[in-house]
Amino acid sequence: MKPGALARLRAAIPLPTGVFLVAAGMYVILKLVRPVIPHSVILLYMGFVILGLVIHVTLRDERMHRFAEFFLRKGAGQPRAVRAQRLGLLAVLPLLFGWWVYDAYRPRYAPPVEIFQRHPTVGEEVLGRITVPDWIAAAPAQWDAGFVSEGKTLYDANCAVCHGEKLDGQGVAAEGFRYPIRPANFQDPGTIAQLTLPYMYWRLTVGGIQNQFNSAMPRWVAPPDNPDVSTLHSYDMNGDEAWKVIAYLYRATGHEPRR
Ligand code: HEC
Repeated sequence: MKPGALARLRAAIPLPTGVFLVAAGMYVILKLVRPVIPHSVILLYMGFVILGLVIHVTLRDERMHRFAEFFLRKGAGQPRAVRAQRLGLLAVLPLLFGWWVYDAYRPRYAPPVEIFQRHPTVGEEVLGRITVPDWIAAAPAQWDAGFVSEGKTLYDANCAVCHGEKLDGQGVAAEGFRYPIRPANFQDPGTIAQLTLPYMYWRLTVGGIQNQFNSAMPRWVAPPDNPDVSTLHSYDMNGDEAWKVIAYLYRATGHEPRR
């Protein structure tokens, strides 16, 4: 750059504005980097950037002088643009600081800290006790159409309110539940497509209330070791109905049970 150009640039962008632009620019760049950088790491990098800027400004007396002068010198004789920049910075900096303090203290609704596992393993000793009826153990293409459509009726009456009419986890009640324990989206290949038939049935015997799933999913069907248990609002389905609903979930989403 020619010396004349540098001088003109200096006159147009005084040191504090330059410092501010570099810091803000770095912040924006770090925010735009993909994959996303965690907020704490951005803060760390910004610490380095600000440290570098402080070193740059304080390295020479002349620069420190220019820095202070920008804020202290009274308006007369200064170009309009420079005065505007001073007022701008004097307004923006306290606002930024205020936002930062506000942001640090405002309440947040973070997801629970414990690691969420959608499909905790369950032992063979539990799954082994569940007998899969022959009709549903067969290839899905051979499932009895009458059973599947009974499953749909049961689904619409009992499950759609949470899991959604389209089985996408967007039922009318779904908004009431918080991530990660929102009603499962059965269209998602990460849910029922990953589950075996005995596991699906077992899930309907345990629901999610007061167990490792810790969710609003009700218990629908009695566990195999206690077939007659029935309590208010629990175990409302019998085994046949449960298998029909399960068949419907797979048929309607086009997924197949894991083998
Ligand atoms: C009150 C809302 C609610 C209703 C009604 C409900 N569920 Fe759920 N269900 C959930 C929630 C929340 C989850 C996700 C958390 C979990 O796995 O427990 C879930 C998870 C599941 C899962 C596990 C999916 C996976 O990938 O692990 C299955 C299977 C399931 N539901 C089937 C059903 C069936 C079948 C019905 C109807 C008979 C039904 N649900 C009714 C709330 C509900």
